[in-house]
Amino acid sequence: VIGAGACAPSDGATMPSAAPAASGTRAATGAGDTIGAAGIGDPDFPKDGNGGYDVAHYGLKLAYDPPTKNLSGVANVTAKAVQDLTRFNLDLHGFTVRRVTVDGRQAAFARDGDELSVSPATAIKNGAAFQVAVDYGGRPDPVRNSSNLGTYGFIPTRDGAFVTSEPNGAKTWFPCNDHPADKATFDFDVTVPTGLTVIANGELRAAPVNGGPTTTFSWRESHPMATYLATITLGRFDVKTGRTAGGIPVYAATDPAFRRQLDFLYTTSARVTDHWSTVFGPYPFSSTGGVIDDFSSGYALENQTKPMYGGFDPDQSIIAHELAHQWFGDSLSIARWKDLWLNEGFATYAEWLWTEQNGGPAAAKTFEDYYAARNAPMWRYPPGIAQRDDLFNTSVYTRGAMTLQVLRDRIGDKTFFDLIRTWTSQHKYGTVTTDDFIKLAESKSGQNLHDLFNAWLYKPERPTLR
Ligand code: ARG
Ligand code: ZN
Repeated sequence: VIGAGACAPSDGATMPSAAPAASGTRAATGAGDTIGAAGIGDPDFPKDGNGGYDVAHYGLKLAYDPPTKNLSGVANVTAKAVQDLTRFNLDLHGFTVRRVTVDGRQAAFARDGDELSVSPATAIKNGAAFQVAVDYGGRPDPVRNSSNLGTYGFIPTRDGAFVTSEPNGAKTWFPCNDHPADKATFDFDVTVPTGLTVIANGELRAAPVNGGPTTTFSWRESHPMATYLATITLGRFDVKTGRTAGGIPVYAATDPAFRRQLDFLYTTSARVTDHWSTVFGPYPFSSTGGVIDDFSSGYALENQTKPMYGGFDPDQSIIAHELAHQWFGDSLSIARWKDLWLNEGFATYAEWLWTEQNGGPAAAKTFEDYYAARNAPMWRYPPGIAQRDDLFNTSVYTRGAMTLQVLRDRIGDKTFFDLIRTWTSQHKYGTVTTDDFIKLAESKSGQNLHDLFNAWLYKPERPTLR
């Protein structure tokens, strides 16, 4: 599903249906061809996502075999055309594609880098719903060392795989429209050697089905989800389930190496979910939880309903951060990666709030400590435009959070928290931009906040305090 925000970029970015035709695909083009663009129109990531259609649902039927590292199966992608299509692309990195069908009929396909282009037997009409089935398999090849992002995507581990894909690693394990501007619901049916556990988003549809040497886990995420938030982390896990005090189902899991953290992970995730529900608005999804695997990724990721912690003991602060993302990043997704502060600035500010609301220093004090560092590199990096090669710069996190503290000081607690709850409810499951937030802040407060946001988000210097 393509959110409204994605179709109305405020920066003059190319709209999906008007983006240039896919380049480099091999099929001959003739008069009357209408080709979906090779990118969704994010100027910083021109090949991420695709134009010409809008995905509603991914049905992934996959099997993974840790000894051979083979991932194989069928991805069923249900989509709606937003233009006539004689050809369209999916994003897919690696693998052998064995067969592609569109509405059950064999389709021609070609590979070019991470683009899989599909030519259906008959053209798809603008507005038509269609289903693509991609039969594929091979050894997943995660993204390594791209800028400061570490390793991400489908990462084989000793006993399974750690699957965390921000920003664009979903294509390392399934064919998709790999950009947060096109969210969809998901079904996962994943078969693994018996004894291993598969952990995907949402809830188990049924008890795992034991077929002797293999067992199949069926999960469903029934709320729209960005591709980078999808996961099928698998391996040996201890699992604890239950409900939060407020009644939300909880699923917590730890790799055996982190077994002693399971109770803390479970309890803290439950507490934090209930607490944020009172601060940010009702919890947007049907379950909550967390997973600690033994792969040392050096980061955590806010996978929808199940944040993942890569090879370390998460403390309260980072659990508070990842669960705040369920509202900021997961329920409300960014239309363009440059607006990443709407995810990371908010989740970082949530850490400060967690401290403030649990007996620690006020967020205003945390702000002061950062503000005192006159020569910090973040003053030269305006967080309102996350840089393509340095998306997760500290500024996007810390100076992004500082922006919210300055805003809170300016408009007062009552208006500020009312604004935050209106923000999460107005755009629930949708796609957002920084301009959307500024407009709402101005209308809620009745103030012109241009100078504040301009100084804090867009100027490469340390703002003065008025
Ligand atoms: N969104 C994550 C967080 O909570 C960071 C993900 C970084 N991604 C990466 N490939 N290193 O801060
Ligand atoms: Zn974060």
